Amino acid sequence: MSTIRYIIILLAICLLGVYADPGAQRYEPTWDSLDKRVTPTWYDEAKLGIFIHWGLFSVPSFDNEWFCLLGVYADPGAQRYEPTWDSLDKRVTPTWYDEAKLGIFIHWGLFSVPSFDNEWFWWNWAHNDTKYINFMAKNYRPGFTYGDFANQFTAEWYDPDKWAEIFKASGAKYIALTSKHHEGYTLWPSTTSFNWNAMDVGPKRDLLGDLAVAVRKQGIKFGAYHSLMDWYHPLFLSDEKSGWKDTDFVKAKSRPELEELVNKYKPELIWSDGDWTAPATYWNSTDIIAWLYNDSPVKDTIVVNDRWGKDMICHHGDFYTCSDRYAPSVLQPHKWESCMSFDKKSWGFRREAPLADYMTTEEVVHSFVQTISCGGNLLLNIGPTHDGRIPLLFEERLRQLGAWLGINGEAVYATKPWVNHRTHQNDSVSGDVWYTYKDKNVYPIALSWPKNNQLELGDIDFKTVNTVELLGTTGQLAVKEKGKGVVITFPSLTPPIKLDYAYALRIKTK
Ligand SMILES: *[C@@H]1O[C@H](CO)[C@@H](O)[C@H](O)[C@H]1NC(C)=O
Ligand SMILES: *[C@@H]1O[C@H](CO)[C@@H](O)[C@H](O)[C@H]1NC(C)=O
Ligand SMILES: *[C@@H]1O[C@H](CO)[C@@H](O)[C@H](O)[C@H]1NC(C)=O
Repeated sequence: MSTIRYIIILLAICLLGVYADPGAQRYEPTWDSLDKRVTPTWYDEAKLGIFIHWGLFSVPSFDNEWFCLLGVYADPGAQRYEPTWDSLDKRVTPTWYDEAKLGIFIHWGLFSVPSFDNEWFWWNWAHNDTKYINFMAKNYRPGFTYGDFANQFTAEWYDPDKWAEIFKASGAKYIALTSKHHEGYTLWPSTTSFNWNAMDVGPKRDLLGDLAVAVRKQGIKFGAYHSLMDWYHPLFLSDEKSGWKDTDFVKAKSRPELEELVNKYKPELIWSDGDWTAPATYWNSTDIIAWLYNDSPVKDTIVVNDRWGKDMICHHGDFYTCSDRYAPSVLQPHKWESCMSFDKKSWGFRREAPLADYMTTEEVVHSFVQTISCGGNLLLNIGPTHDGRIPLLFEERLRQLGAWLGINGEAVYATKPWVNHRTHQNDSVSGDVWYTYKDKNVYPIALSWPKNNQLELGDIDFKTVNTVELLGTTGQLAVKEKGKGVVITFPSLTPPIKLDYAYALRIKTK
């Protein structure tokens, strides 16, 4: 074979190879170049394939796979609900609520004028509690009535924008203001509460409407606490006498009042209360909730709690409250919320409260971490004063909570409980470490700094760990396998890095 022939054959083999092996050539990101690729031969030879359509559309399995575009799964408001618990319980809670994790509860009303003992002032006084009899005898003229407090509800220092700025700084994503507590006095000019509302008597101002505007400017959702009952409304008392057969109070007051509140201010959360004396059928609760879900101006985003009638608590609603300061410590099957107050003994502002009765910021953070780890939200209560101020102690602790969230928010907002076949949400070796989960990251949150900077976690499988970091610091932490778990070395922090209250790790998993 001559050298020339040899070269030609070699060249031919070489050229053949270029076309036969598509992987050997590089393509430009242009259609011209990509179109030159020779389709790998396996595909032409195969002739028959199986197509598999499987997804959320396979759940309804109705009509076709574009079902989801109808919005059934994406948009809870697109479905209509019957006024029955069976139907209402099928609603998917709007996602904003689960992602929010933290709300601020605000107890403000005429009880903020005496600011004594707690927000049940009128009731306790009317039931001749001696503490109250003595308080009134000592501080008020004879013949002073509860109604006389209304003129002293002045709110002259009320600055809704300042309140909203404090809420924003706390890291809260929603609020719930007492639109009306059991005393019946409304913080908005209610047309069903003549001369017993903040516009007619007292501040002469729409306290609620002004706050709704202010918090929305800060990107915070506005929610309203609403007491179904009014302790001393004549129609409520006569309905009670009828054994809840008459529903005059519901028809004339509670129902139109709630509808007005929703139509006018469009709260995205209704925190119902004052429900426990009468059955849900008396309150016509399923009918009002069906209206909220189907036809109200907030039908797509509204969330409601579970206090809609005697024995209904912890059974129905978008989120369960179950009891005040609910702290189940284990994962709950249904979305829930823990409502708790800085003041351990009162929801309304209480002038005589000693410092020791207030939860510290650390106690609040620890409770918050356990709550979200078990699938709950925290609704943290403050009590403003009769003249419209948020007392500085609340403000300071809210800002401290916000500073903590500024560092650790990634382990909080929009996270899910970390299930992973475990029985508890806290670690099986280090019990004061609580887990959250988001985007393949596991977040163990330690309520105390580990001894000698060594944290042992029984529930983290070493083989799944990619990297470990401590939020608020830079760099990766050393991690070693130990038994079925791991040991993580915390950094030695030097000022100005200062972490407080609870320490969140970000474990990126493989
Ligand atoms: C409280 O005392 C007043 C005056 O003695 C009485 O009329 C009223 O019935 C008492 N209230 C209750 C709930 O016992
Ligand atoms: C509940 O509300 C609906 C709609 O307003 C009304 O038709 C019905 O009579 C109410 N039921 C009761 C028990 O009040
Ligand atoms: C985890 O929390 C539960 C509920 O509070 C508690 O009973 C348990 O002792 C904790 N686990 C550990 C290991 O401390």
